[in-house]
This record gives sequence, C-alpha cells and structure tokens, in this order.
Amino acid sequence: MRRIRYYSYGGPEVLTVEQADIPVPGPGQVLVRASAIGANFVDTLLRRGPSSGPIFDRPLPGRLTGDVVGTVEAVGPGVAVDQPASLVGRRVATLSEDAFAEYVVADLDWLAEVPSGLDVGAASTLPLGGPTALGALRAGHLAPGETVLVHAAAGGIGHLAVQLAKVLGAGRVIATAAGAAKLDFALDHGADVAIDYSADDWPDQVGKAAPDGVDVILDSIGGQTLLRGLDLLAPLGRTVVYGVASGDFREIPVTSLFALRSVVGFSLLAWRAADPEAGRRDVAEIAGHLAAGRLRTTVHACLPLDEAASAHRMFEERAHRGRILLLP
Ligand SMILES: NC(=O)c1ccc[n+]([C@@H]2O[C@H](COP(=O)([O-])OP(=O)(O)OC[C@H]3O[C@@H](n4cnc5c(N)ncnc54)[C@H](OP(=O)(O)O)[C@@H]3O)[C@@H](O)[C@H]2O)c1
Repeated sequence: MRRIRYYSYGGPEVLTVEQADIPVPGPGQVLVRASAIGANFVDTLLRRGPSSGPIFDRPLPGRLTGDVVGTVEAVGPGVAVDQPASLVGRRVATLSEDAFAEYVVADLDWLAEVPSGLDVGAASTLPLGGPTALGALRAGHLAPGETVLVHAAAGGIGHLAVQLAKVLGAGRVIATAAGAAKLDFALDHGADVAIDYSADDWPDQVGKAAPDGVDVILDSIGGQTLLRGLDLLAPLGRTVVYGVASGDFREIPVTSLFALRSVVGFSLLAWRAADPEAGRRDVAEIAGHLAAGRLRTTVHACLPLDEAASAHRMFEERAHRGRILLLP
C-alpha cells in the first residue's frame, strides 16, 4: 500500500510517498481501508519539528495524524469473536496517528460508526474536529444566551465551533479570521459578526460587537491573540485554549486573571483519557447533529494522497476554508 511519512523535519517537501506492508490489526483493533483522510493543521507544526515549540517535539520518522473515513476490512484477534462479519464491511471513521495511508489500524474502542447518508466530509469530523469543538465549548461552560468569540473561525475546527456554539444556545457568536473570503465563510456558517483579526484594531471591533464583554473565547492561536482576548472577557468570562497555531507560547500574567477571568485548556486526547464514556457520547452527539442538519462541514479541497504536500502548503499559506481531504 502507499503511505506518507517524513524522515527529516522541514517544509512540505519532506513528505515522502512510499510503499509499505498493509498493517495487521492487533487485539482490540480493526483494519480500515481508507476512502478519505481528513488532514489536520497541527501536523504542519509537528512536521517542522522542535522548532515549532516544545509540545511539537516528536521522534522521526514522522507520521501524520488524520481522520480516516473508510470500511472495516478485517478484525484483530479477540474482536467480535461471536459475530466478526458484523464489523467487516461497516463504514467507520477513526482518528489515526499514522493516517496518511491506504490502510490504517484502529482501536475498536474509538471507532465511530458513520450513519448512512453522511458524506465523507461530514464523516471526517466525527473522530476529532466535531468532538474538539464541542469539548472546547463545554470546557468554557457555555450557557444559553452567552456571547462566544471563536478565533480562526473559518478553519477545520473553527467552522464547526461556530455552528455548535449556536446549537448549544449561544446568544451571539463573533467569529474572527484573516481575509474577506474567510469572514464571509464564517457568516455563512452561522456567525452573527465576523471580524478580521489581521487588523490591529480587532479587539476594538470585538468590543463594539460585545459591549458587555465576551463570555467564552475559543482560542487556538495563542500569543498576542490570546493575551489581547483576555481583556475582552466579561466578568466571570472564560477563555478556552485548545491550540497554539501561531507557535507563540508566551505566558499569561497571573495578574491578568484578577478581573474575574479564567483560562482553561482543552485537549481531546486528554478528555478521552479522563472520561472515555463521555468522549464516546460526544462523538454520538456530533453524529446526531450532522444527521439532523444542525451541523455541516465544508470541504475546501479533495486531493490525491500523493499530493499530501500540497495539502500542507494550503495550511501554511492559510488558504483553506473548512476541511482538506486526501483521497487514497
Ligand atoms: N486541543 C485539541 O484536542 C486539538 C485537536 C485538534 C486540533 N487542535 C488545534 O486546533 C486548531 C485548529 O485546528 P484545525 O486543524 O482546524 O486548523 P485550522 O483552523 O483549519 O488552521 C489553522 C488556522 O489558524 C489560523 N492561524 C492564526 N495564526 C496562524 C499562524 N501564525 N500560522 C498559521 N495559521 C494561523 C489560520 O486561520 P486564519 O488565516 O483565519 O488566521 C489557519 O487557517 C489548531 O491550533 C490545532 O493545533 C487542538
């Protein structure tokens, strides 16, 4: 089978197409033949290696994460021994840490069944994007009627967070993104206001849109964006940090929290480890929202697997709106 790995840190050109054996599922695992792979921005930081920051220091050879949508081809020892045929052939989605390949092995525990009628774009949000957006909003204790600010709102996770904030009852959703096309995109996905945060006065613009302050900020950017956002919080407002796309790891002065503000972090993997049952419920909830049409995903580009480097270039040029899918 074909797969993508990288053997040195660097730009998109280090991504290498190679031939490899089809992996063998172990106990508690299944083999999935991929029909589409949702690419994730975070892999561009991991691919550049330790220079991206301390949390992006991973060993070589580098493997790429992704949201694999596909069909179960085989089951590992001890999986569904009583009725193995029931799993084989099923359409599933799974988060994989070695995802850019024609076949992946997946843990049965985290396999998401794809409801019939969901297209590959929607299905690709089940393992990671949807649950991360939902989990971040819940970590911010979003209450009905509250005002939410979603940064990078035209991104793969951001455009889901805008919609899910509304589903959870947000009164007002303010989106930020860079450039007019992304602002239109965020408005089209349900934001009430869209602000270009590449303009230096973006906090003033948010202040005008939310004169009483923002109750919940979803921050995946870090650095200056994170710090300037703190001053926009209403009393008892919460910032949820779930990414550092800027690569700027500067610290938050504790004194900035004295004005009754709090900052909480969210990581999907940490959440799944802390409460697996809740993690699985979140996936089911996202599937329900997608099936009912309350949540939709927009696919920016579908590229052949061999063009993984082009997908990474799109991420780094910040050209995408919504998801990027690779097709094996
Ligand atoms: N906590 C978790 O469990 C978890 C799980 C998955 C992903 N994440 C994080 O969630 C965030 C969103 O992931 P995603 O895959 O949906 O990515 P994405 O939002 O589709 O892409 C990242 C976006 O960040 C914005 N950005 C701002 N400053 C940037 C900079 N200096 N360089 C590059 N981009 C910059 C860009 O949007 P604009 O051009 O509009 O600024 C860019 O499109 C990422 O930070 C990722 O690491 C967290």
